[in-house]
Amino acid sequence: MKRIGVMTSGGDSPGMNAAIRAVLRTAIYNGLEVFGIRRGYSGLMEADIYEMNLGSVADIIQRGGTILKTARSTEFKTDEGQNKALNVLRIFKIDGLVVIGGDGSFRGAKALYEKGFPIISIPGTIDNDMGYTDATIGFDTVINTVTESIGRLRDTTESHGRATIVEVMGRNCGDIALYSGLAGGADSIVLPEKEIDVDAICKKLLEGKSRGKKHAIIVFAEGEGKITPFELAKTIEKNTGIESRVTILGYIQRGGNPSAYDRIIASKMGSRAVELLIEGKSGRAIGIRGSQIIDLSIEDALNTEKSFHNRDHEIANELSI
Ligand code: ADP
Ligand code: F6P
Repeated sequence: MKRIGVMTSGGDSPGMNAAIRAVLRTAIYNGLEVFGIRRGYSGLMEADIYEMNLGSVADIIQRGGTILKTARSTEFKTDEGQNKALNVLRIFKIDGLVVIGGDGSFRGAKALYEKGFPIISIPGTIDNDMGYTDATIGFDTVINTVTESIGRLRDTTESHGRATIVEVMGRNCGDIALYSGLAGGADSIVLPEKEIDVDAICKKLLEGKSRGKKHAIIVFAEGEGKITPFELAKTIEKNTGIESRVTILGYIQRGGNPSAYDRIIASKMGSRAVELLIEGKSGRAIGIRGSQIIDLSIEDALNTEKSFHNRDHEIANELSI
């Protein structure tokens, strides 16, 4: 292993830069050359590649986003696209690749590995939707960002005596909603993993109202498929008489400086990814369980079902009576 490539793919997440830095510094420390691939698999197929040096990652550990840019590519999902990418890797004499991204990016990595290319993947997504790892890079930051936003919304919600429904990201995974809702003291948390009970939400609001509480925060995961936050707001107004508003936090959630925890796991995962390539291992996914950095085959990582922590949802409900 003389020369490795590094890229970020899929939705960006805070901490990706810290992971890029760790990959590059570990590789250079061990005498390897590093090439940065811009814009994920799109940039790989188009040979948007440059040689990196120690200075390329100076001053980025604290920055959100990704200096390598990112993209989603449908072309790469085809055999033709993947062969194009392999050809570029051959031309640039890259011997191994580290891909930082979510489960889609992992599927892309698995495809290249199955065609014989040495590859390691690192979980970088705000969604925390990968079952094999306790945390993905960016999740800790996003729940801190959302919790702070809930605090701001609480001020105005309380002042007006309203119900505020806050829609958060996460695709089909409710972890962002569940844990920012728990940290933000939400009155109700609506998740894709649990059937929504609109009557129970309204009943809780009415019980609160009868005790003199006239405001509420409801955290709503974007992956809830049955009802929109706007429909929920209308129903709440109709059934409880409490004026309701919707805030969609959107891309605000994905930006900002990574938390210390995300920088730490990104650094440890990036370092381990390069070690594995040097040890001649490939087709591996890096993760964390407890405080332990782990690796398993990308296939097993993708096949590990994400478990839903029902008790945490119950605790959030019990604490918001
Ligand atoms: P994320 O990595 O955040 O989950 P996406 O699901 O958009 O984001 O995946 C990132 C990219 O990975 C896709 O745009 C595509 O190029 C590639 N990818 C996703 N699924 C596959 C697949 N089944 N086979 C090959 N490449 C894939
Ligand atoms: O996967 C990360 C994520 O931010 C999801 O939470 C969200 O649904 C999606 O990406 C948005 O994707 P895009 O940036 O393509 O709109």
